[in-house]
Order: sequence, then C-alpha cells, then structure tokens
Amino acid sequence: MNDGLSGARSDAGSVLGGRRRMKRNTIAVMNTKGGVGKSTLVLALAETLTALHGKTVLVIDSDAQASVSAMLMTPNHLHKLQNEAATIVDFLAASVLKTQTVDWTKFVVGNVSDVDDARRLYLIPSDMQLTLFEREVSRESQHAALRATVRKLLEAARNIFDYVLIDCPPGLSVLTETWLRDADWYMSPTKPDYVSVCGLEVFRRFRALNPEMGFAENIGVVINLADAASAADRDYDAWLRSQADNRCFGPSVFRTSALQSAALYSADGRSWLAKYPGNVGQAVRGLTEELIARTEQVQADAAVQLKSTGSSN
Ligand SMILES: Nc1ncnc2c1ncn2[C@@H]1O[C@H](COP(=O)(O)OP(=O)(O)O)[C@@H](O)[C@H]1O
Ligand SMILES: [Mg+2]
Repeated sequence: MNDGLSGARSDAGSVLGGRRRMKRNTIAVMNTKGGVGKSTLVLALAETLTALHGKTVLVIDSDAQASVSAMLMTPNHLHKLQNEAATIVDFLAASVLKTQTVDWTKFVVGNVSDVDDARRLYLIPSDMQLTLFEREVSRESQHAALRATVRKLLEAARNIFDYVLIDCPPGLSVLTETWLRDADWYMSPTKPDYVSVCGLEVFRRFRALNPEMGFAENIGVVINLADAASAADRDYDAWLRSQADNRCFGPSVFRTSALQSAALYSADGRSWLAKYPGNVGQAVRGLTEELIARTEQVQADAAVQLKSTGSSN
C-alpha cells in the first residue's frame, strides 16, 4: 500500500477487546440469497462514504466471483492483479495454508473506483480461486488458522480505515462464517420478496447456533430492488419493517437503471452525482448517513461508558 496508511497504530483496536472496543467499523455485507444487491450496495456505500464524507474506506472482496472488484476497476487491471497473485486468496493461502508471515497491506490496492472524488477508497480484490482455497481449508482442518488470520487483519484494518466493508458471497462458506464471527457488524441487503426474506431467516438461525463462538451484531437490513408499483413488494416491505430485530434502514432502495449501471466501471471517470443521480442518489446518501449515525452512536456510547468506568476506578 503506497499511501502512508500503513503507519497507523495496529494495536489500539484490541485494547478494549470484544464488544467494548471503541472503534467498531468493520461490516460484513451478507445475505444467504444472491442477487439482492450486496455488491452493488457495498460499492455505493463505499463510494459515498469517501466521496461525500471524506472517509477512508477499505472494501474486502470475499466473493470468488469478484463482482465488487470488477465494479471498482477495469477488467485488465483486475486480471493483472489476479495474475500477480495480489488478491485476498493469495494473502489467505500464504498465511493460512503455507503458514507464512505475510503483510496484508501489500494486498490493498489504492486508486480504485471511477468516481472522481473517491480518492480514499481501497480494495483487496478477489479471485475465483477462493472456492478452491476454502475447500483446502476444510480438507486440512485449518479453520482455526483462518480465523486467527482474519481476526488479525480486521484488528489492524479497524485502526487504519474509517470503515471496512466486506462483500460476502451468497451462502454460508467457511470464509464468510469467519468474517461474520470477527467483524463488528453485519448488514443484510434484501429484496422485499419471499425468497430473500427466507435468506434472512436462514441466516438468523445460523447466527443462533454457536453463540459462544462470537458473532457480529446486526447493523440493519437494507430493503433493495423494491418495485414501487408492486403491492406484494409493499407488503413484504411493511412486514420486514414490522420486525424490530431487523433494524431496517430508513429508505428502501428502488429498482433503478442508474443503480444497475453504477455496477459498470467507467474508465472515463465520473462525478458522484453523475453516478448516483436523482432519487437513487438521495436513497444512497440517506443510507450512508444512517450507517454513519448508527456506527458513531455506538462509539459515542462506548466512550461515555469508558469514561464512567474510568472515573469510578
Ligand atoms: N436497486 C437496484 N436497481 C437496479 N438494479 C440493481 C439494484 N441493486 C442491484 N441491482 C442489480 O441487480 C443485480 C444483482 O446485484 P448484486 O449487487 O450483484 O447482488 P448480490 O451481490 O447480492 O448477488 C446486478 O445486476 C445489479 O446491477
Ligand atoms: Mg455479490
């Protein structure tokens, strides 16, 4: 990484440990269902956090299909990184399977995104070899080593970046489970339809299975791909919002061609406003503001708690 970020303190995040950590900014974006807009929302949130709020953001692509990587750079650039063994798979394979000491910041790529103002956006790209890596982890029973590696990465990244967004694939792979156990939060995009809601339910049951192993906290459900003209969508939207545990984000994101084309990287570059115009821009801006408010509120609460614990000692 060529930006001086690597000099940031790498130990502060774990000072408080577990749930009382001050910085809680690592978010796994997850739904066991595919096609609900996980990667699209990771892209939109990351670009908005950095372009409109000046945040330094790391996107970790944890999907073998590398969708969010392809949304953030040209195919040539992505293939080059994959050929140079500079992806999350190469980092994890070296650390976990070959037990080498590897500097994860070497796998962080700057200067990604086609949004002119998104200068503080960074990516660890993915590769289709990820599936084979996960198979190998299971075959060699290297789950504990994988978890230790992921935990260390997140602990360090937490202090270098304002936000770390992890784009998970559908399903519940070995690596996805690891992110979910060690990230601070998970966010679940969902379509307001039966199958996507089932995806959320499967995930909720999975979460309840081994509470002793730790799990991220729900930062909220984002209702995406809503069709304003569909009565069924409106019913599912209302039902999702009626479940307090979902912590649904305020705005639902409608199905729009603007968001669909946001996924296509434009080598010419564009402004944030050109990429996220009108209503879609408003929805993405609203989501991002709410995400910041939710994470900052928790950090403010933790600071107050810490202060009162300190003064009572
Ligand atoms: N709000 C939206 N409006 C229109 N198209 C969308 C929207 N959200 C996502 N899409 C499109 O839906 C498809 C699936 O989105 P994607 O982000 O890849 O889902 P996932 O990561 O959950 O599999 C993509 O073609 C994407 O461009
Ligand atoms: Mg995806």
